[in-house]
Amino acid sequence: MTGEADTAGKPVEELSDAEAKAELRRLSDAISEADRQYHVEDAPVLTDAEYDALRRRNQAIEERFPDLKLADSPSERVAPGPSEGFSKVRHARPMLSLANAFNDEDVHEFARRVRRFLSLGEEDELALVAEPKIDGLSAALRYVDGRLEVGATRGDGTEGENITRNLETLDDVPTTLPAGVPGILEVRGEVYMTKDDFVALNDRQAKAGGKIFANPRNAAAGSLRQLDPTITAARPLRFFAYSWGEISENIADTHWEFLKKLEAWGFTTNPLSQRCESVESALAVYADIGERRTTLPYDIDGVVYKVDRLDWQQRLGMVSRAPRWAIAHKFKAEQAETVLKAIEIQVGRTGALTPVARLEPVKVAGVTVSNATLHNEGEIRRKDVRVGDTVVIQRAGDVIPQVVRVILEKRPADSVEYVFPETCPECGSDAEQPEGEAIRRCTGGLICPAQAVERLKHFVSRDAFDIEGLGSKQIDGFYSNGLIKRPGDIFRLKQHRDVLIGEKGTKTISTDNLLAAIEDRRSIGFDRFIYSLGIRQVGQATARLLAINYGTLEALRTAMAAAHDPESEAHADLLNIDQIGSSVAKDLADFFAEDHNAEVLDDLAAELTIAPFAAPAASDSPIAGKTVVFTGTLTRIGRNEAKAKAESLGAKVAGSVSKKTDYVIIGADAGSKAAKAEALGVPTLSEDEWFTLIGE
Ligand code: IVH
Repeated sequence: MTGEADTAGKPVEELSDAEAKAELRRLSDAISEADRQYHVEDAPVLTDAEYDALRRRNQAIEERFPDLKLADSPSERVAPGPSEGFSKVRHARPMLSLANAFNDEDVHEFARRVRRFLSLGEEDELALVAEPKIDGLSAALRYVDGRLEVGATRGDGTEGENITRNLETLDDVPTTLPAGVPGILEVRGEVYMTKDDFVALNDRQAKAGGKIFANPRNAAAGSLRQLDPTITAARPLRFFAYSWGEISENIADTHWEFLKKLEAWGFTTNPLSQRCESVESALAVYADIGERRTTLPYDIDGVVYKVDRLDWQQRLGMVSRAPRWAIAHKFKAEQAETVLKAIEIQVGRTGALTPVARLEPVKVAGVTVSNATLHNEGEIRRKDVRVGDTVVIQRAGDVIPQVVRVILEKRPADSVEYVFPETCPECGSDAEQPEGEAIRRCTGGLICPAQAVERLKHFVSRDAFDIEGLGSKQIDGFYSNGLIKRPGDIFRLKQHRDVLIGEKGTKTISTDNLLAAIEDRRSIGFDRFIYSLGIRQVGQATARLLAINYGTLEALRTAMAAAHDPESEAHADLLNIDQIGSSVAKDLADFFAEDHNAEVLDDLAAELTIAPFAAPAASDSPIAGKTVVFTGTLTRIGRNEAKAKAESLGAKVAGSVSKKTDYVIIGADAGSKAAKAEALGVPTLSEDEWFTLIGE
């Protein structure tokens, strides 16, 4: 038989029947494998050109030998849909992230916040559990009647991937639990790889010509998301259990007790975790763990403190994706020395000019760093950073590496001071720095391509439209070839299917997957929609407040147009929303007053179904949709807890009393707000009456 290489290279017109047959089989297999690597493994091995060449050759042979065409010919094959990947799992309770503390004072502030929220007295003990923050990936294990039913990744916190078969392969993950566990029990924790196992795995990978991982965390991630569970089984993954999701009965009064239960049921919990009776002792645990950090067998990036009492955790609840009852105290960033080769200016979505240091690549905390942020013009001046300088950089966890300082002794003799540009490097417009602000901004608005692209990237980002297969890289491509210039274009991309799949149809599968993912997002919640617009200073929490208070896009637009007049009632209403100050109000009014933004919104509104914000528990809450104002000192709970409670029952909390206020809740020593309520005829409630109204 002819060697494969010979046949593979032979011109189509010279192939014999037998060779053509063998060649069609080979091409079919190669194309299937490439499809699998691209769509399923997310790790294409062939370049687009190589892939196209395989398909072209397959087609040419089929044209010359029509009788030999395979039944499962790649030219006829139906695209493998995303179903070939992992199925999705909706978390019964969201998987949260953690707020960060960077120093002792942040931790004290956390404890003060908790105490204030719970209205604790100075003599009340606030016990915390301190646990190492494992640098891995979180996973959720759902047991029904003691059997592992579903194991999932965190995903976006609301929806993860079903990786049950993979998680089952871990020694630390029991598949059955002893009798007596709650009927429904979802255990959460961290999947990780030890440092030694990571090194050994990379050695094996190197010998086998496989993928080399940058650090243990990446190795754990890559090993866990394997479609073939036998691959995961061969990788040395471990699991520390540290929290729960859904649970059908109360099994503990404290987090500490809960950890002990987990151990009794066969889970591994972290041996360094400790119950602490005060913030001071928690900080001592932090110092101790920090000292042992480098000698621990696995990577950790801080210590997590959790309020021990579970009834308190329940009361504290959460704010924008993170619990109020826990905080991650990060370790100091690791530092390294390197040479700054150039300073480049990046233009962000709101026009901010951010200087970026291009560095001689250097390894810090396990990864190679070649860029670092220099923050802004003032920062460069203060640190007197110059091209050619030797600088100290640092990197902590997932934050962007930073330039800390210049090593002046190593400065080259011919070095010159860096001059910050006064025009936008992307569009040439003036870049202005308003009085008192640190940041210089391009005034080009959306005529500036950099701003337009960055806004689009924000629009499709994870917490916004979150369109699978449409990330930064794709947006760059679609923007430069003119297919996507503004957000609405995304939803018209299907009109260009022919262009996208290419002349030979080689991109059919990926195009159709992308178009389906886009269609999937044609309806969206109002709060996500607002966030996706990328309005300056409007993050997820503010977007949510606006969605609660205005309900629909039309109502929001009308109100913001009116609010442009600072004397208007609409402006007063906006400022009256608790937590919205005059600077945010100005950015909002400016955004909606701009003609170009109005066009973008009209265009988008025509493509989308925006679901009005659904007030939580609206149907059975007596205060859903009502506007309430708290004034005076409350005695049963703290002011913040009262506000959070009202919001969780669907009410809007305002900062001052107006005709639109439904109730004013009057605590001790209330002042002018009580008087104003009286004058306007707004119903007032005492603290007790309030609790009766909400059924507590
Ligand atoms: S508790 C509601 N405990 O850190 C609290 N998280 O930055 C949710 N992590 O997504 C997590 N060690 O992946 C908790 N002892 C620990 C942890 C831990 C590591 C991770 C986890 C979480 C992330 C948040």
